[in-house]
Amino acid sequence: MSTKSILITGGAGFIGSHVVRLFVNKYSDYQIVNYDKLTYAGNLENLVDVADKSNYTFVKGDILDEQLLDEVFEKHEIDAVIHLAAESHVDRSITNPNAFIETNVMGTATLMNVARKHWKDFNGKLFYHVSTDEVYGSLGKEGYFTETTPYDPRSPYSASKASSDHLVRAYHHTYDLPVVISNCSNNYGANQFPEKLIPLFIHNIKENKSLPVYGKGDNVRDWLWVNDHADAIDVIFHSGKVGETYNIGGNNEWQNIELIKKLCEIMDEKLGRAAGSSEKLITYVKDRQGHDKRYAIDASKLKNDLGWEPSIDFAEGLEKTVDWYLQNEAWLKNVTSGAYQKYYQEQYQNR
Ligand code: NAD
Ligand code: TYD
Repeated sequence: MSTKSILITGGAGFIGSHVVRLFVNKYSDYQIVNYDKLTYAGNLENLVDVADKSNYTFVKGDILDEQLLDEVFEKHEIDAVIHLAAESHVDRSITNPNAFIETNVMGTATLMNVARKHWKDFNGKLFYHVSTDEVYGSLGKEGYFTETTPYDPRSPYSASKASSDHLVRAYHHTYDLPVVISNCSNNYGANQFPEKLIPLFIHNIKENKSLPVYGKGDNVRDWLWVNDHADAIDVIFHSGKVGETYNIGGNNEWQNIELIKKLCEIMDEKLGRAAGSSEKLITYVKDRQGHDKRYAIDASKLKNDLGWEPSIDFAEGLEKTVDWYLQNEAWLKNVTSGAYQKYYQEQYQNR
């Protein structure tokens, strides 16, 4: 593929920043334009190491802003989009669904409309939509999500992502827009905003705050190291077949409570605290509304067709993640000051 100028949306967020770093460092002949609104989840500190690179440009903008997108497509002669910008947290989607519908549904449509307008012919062009396994709904004890599992989204977040996936496929079918979609399981790693389970609990353990476990803690997630997700996106971007969907997963299922206990153990060791002290912070709280029971991905299509597999195991990834948060105190302090305190109180006061 001869793509040279790539618009990465949401590049200042958790996964986006790893994708931007990978592409900027690995492909010096590509121009990478990071387009991000810098919501509470966007943070340019995630990208200080690439900010001065000659093949990197940052544009602060909303994916709903068609005029600004027009200017960016024109100026940078964009020929591919890797679309990650989204509202991404399930709990926030329960309290404020509209923001999810606006950004995830309308924003994705706006972006595709602009791409269609500027791409006179679709030769060598690609619109890559980064999505989630949550679109498939919730599993019982057995089975896995495959690319042909029927959609059954159950939270406002997953419904908004499912809507955007459908729109992406519809634009491919109707207008021939060259698209590819990947649906990935839960990510963890450096730079994740401490509202999601792993960074929130690392932060709380460090601060000796309680660890709010929803329900019985028996929900199951399939965890993937964020750098492995970025590698999978690289592989799919370059070798994926237009019009196809690829599931990405870690083959790494954990019941929340088991994962939390493992995390407590690592934190005790790293902080030099007595064994068992972090576990005492575990507090069972009211369950999340509509809480999906289990997610598990069958990623064999990606392995068989494109040769991708996760590179590290969970013990190593979790330890690396804990180390990163402990070594980046200033980052954690910055993102947990100001508006974060209000969010945290509102989110957990009634649980
Ligand atoms: P994140 O919340 O950390 O980052 C989202 C980024 O999008 C932020 O930088 C934010 O400023 C930006 N953004 C939000 N609204 C915007 C708008 N209207 N215009 C422009 N920019 C906007 O999210 P993340 O966890 O990095 O997830 C990135 C993508 O990957 C999302 O599409 C998400 O659905 C998907 N995904 C996430 C996971 C996960 O475990 N986190 C798993 C699978 C798929
Ligand atoms: P989360 O990181 O929000 O990801 P998602 O809901 O998209 O899978 O949550 C992961 C799991 O952890 C999920 O089952 C909900 C649970 N959870 C808690 O028990 N307590 C918490 O404070 C949070 C944020 C999540």
